Amino acid sequence: MKRTLGVCYYPEHWPEAQWAEDAARMAALGLTWVRIGEFAWSRMEPTPGTYDWAWLDRAIATLGDHGLKVVLGTPTATPPRWMLDRHPDMLALDKDGKPRGFGSRRHYCFSHRGYRGECAKIVSTMAERYGKSPHVAAWQTDNEYACHATTLSYSKAATEAFRDWLAQRYQSPDALNRAWGNVFWSMEYTDFDDIGLPNLTVTEPNPSHVMDFRRFASDEVVSFNRLQTEIIRRHSPAPIAHNYMGAVTEFDHFATGTDLDIASWDSYPLGFLSDRIPADAEHKRRFVRQGDPDFQAFHHDLYRAVGRGRWWIMEQQPGPVNWAPYNPDPLPGMARLWAWEAFAHGAEAVCYFRWRQAPFAQEQMHAGLLRPDSAPAQAFGEAGQVAEELAEMPDVETAPAKLALVFDYASDWAWEIQPQGRSFSYFWLVFHFYKGLRRLGLNVDILPPDTADLSGYKLVLAPGLFTLSDPLKAALAAHKGTAILGPRTNSKTADFSIPVPLPPNLPGLDARVIRVESLPPDVPVPLVQGGALVNWREKLEGTATVTEVAEDGWPALMSSGKLHYLAGWPDDAALARILARACADEGIETEALPEGLRRRDTATRRFMFNYNAVPVEWAGVSIPAAGVHWADL
Ligand code: GAL
Repeated sequence: MKRTLGVCYYPEHWPEAQWAEDAARMAALGLTWVRIGEFAWSRMEPTPGTYDWAWLDRAIATLGDHGLKVVLGTPTATPPRWMLDRHPDMLALDKDGKPRGFGSRRHYCFSHRGYRGECAKIVSTMAERYGKSPHVAAWQTDNEYACHATTLSYSKAATEAFRDWLAQRYQSPDALNRAWGNVFWSMEYTDFDDIGLPNLTVTEPNPSHVMDFRRFASDEVVSFNRLQTEIIRRHSPAPIAHNYMGAVTEFDHFATGTDLDIASWDSYPLGFLSDRIPADAEHKRRFVRQGDPDFQAFHHDLYRAVGRGRWWIMEQQPGPVNWAPYNPDPLPGMARLWAWEAFAHGAEAVCYFRWRQAPFAQEQMHAGLLRPDSAPAQAFGEAGQVAEELAEMPDVETAPAKLALVFDYASDWAWEIQPQGRSFSYFWLVFHFYKGLRRLGLNVDILPPDTADLSGYKLVLAPGLFTLSDPLKAALAAHKGTAILGPRTNSKTADFSIPVPLPPNLPGLDARVIRVESLPPDVPVPLVQGGALVNWREKLEGTATVTEVAEDGWPALMSSGKLHYLAGWPDDAALARILARACADEGIETEALPEGLRRRDTATRRFMFNYNAVPVEWAGVSIPAAGVHWADL
């Protein structure tokens, strides 16, 4: 497949006289795609029901005339000010019941039916007008659902929609009371209309209540998105994408993914390292201008799964961003490395954010491919280099991995609701396993939690799954390879109770979690074979084989044949040993890579990515600082 580059562009930010020159420069740089439109509602519909499409017609024509393909975004992340006059209660309310006001973006409640009606109208009007445009070759719905913590709303609209959702799920208040265990603290309800949202309680609300609210809120995003995809599909044959944001897990991306043709995500490696990755100071210093060496790859593999094979980078960091605690300048080479890493993981397209740095408003400190004065910024030349390289090497085909890691959004909600210890996070537990695999030079596939067929994989890892779905349980039972589950896997019922028989309750593995403890990060539980369990450990009883044991005598890994249960969060050393042994058992070749050097095999080539600020010698080649190396396999 031919991989392509693109850019995010805001014609409404620039004088029209500049558009043609911009388009010519984009084409000359070797770009294919231009994403536009996603924040331009106030220019598309300046007053309610009065549309102005003429400027957008001309912008699309200008781009198209220069041979560029347009990704047209629906503008529903930025309702204009007049919308509030029509729907004063459309704003989301925060946990304290305060409205999240106008003056930035994403100021809407997913449950507000009036706002959904307005979205349906603008999307229909756009889809009718541009659905057959020869230049609109893809669509994007909204922009980064959930970004800025916008999934949960404690509004009246959300309360009413939640009650309906509960009534459908449980049918009777009695059934809900039983499922939630509402006899505890006299929390029983006699009417669905008495049920509120799980905020403003005196102490913690019932975890079952919160879990259902999280499921409901995720379903609201899914139906909000579906409203748009159904309309677009009626008018346009072009594929539809949404741009997800890194480490944002507030809704189930696999569920929205089934209504989309392409998954895409917005990759800001330096912003993420500074803002959201829980690494120590030394790691943050070492990779400050390069980003974490695994964070991007994890998302590439995740979105390959969410998009069922089809995925893009819709926004790629080109230089300093404006929104993280610190906003360093990427090392020369990183804007090229990030793009190649995405292609090696199967991205069909990588679009840089944004074409020209805007001198005004919130993101005036955010770099683009061009400076505010239209001169090329650093990433401009790197994007051009990638375009030339792609022209010479168009066939970057992904190869299936031998091993897989299960990722489940609902488990992230569950353990956020009930971490039981400050240092337990599902997302970072899974990411820790991913890092462990990448350090061994392995390609990883990520799988959704309802995967029904594991036959392609020799090794499957499923840490921290709240419940085991029936399809996955059956697939594990039929699996011929090695599987490592735990910690916390299958430790709750779907209603959020402790199941009996006690977890993990895996057929064929006689091991039971009889007690758990959470620990401060500086209190490890040393293992006899080296390394330790950290953050979280479980005490197991049962007759399964004890494969790893803690110095205090409790089992750390219990096994029956190729099925293993891990009784805690392994530190780097313990994880490396456990993974290397599992790979050796399955005949999967591993290679312990130096820090910051990562590898990815495609069907025909081996790519090496050097995230270090210094060159690295490896396997007889020198890979430059912030550099990429590839060779035929
Ligand atoms: C993304 C967003 C863009 C822009 C960018 C800045 O999260 O989708 O609109 O704000 O961040 O880095």
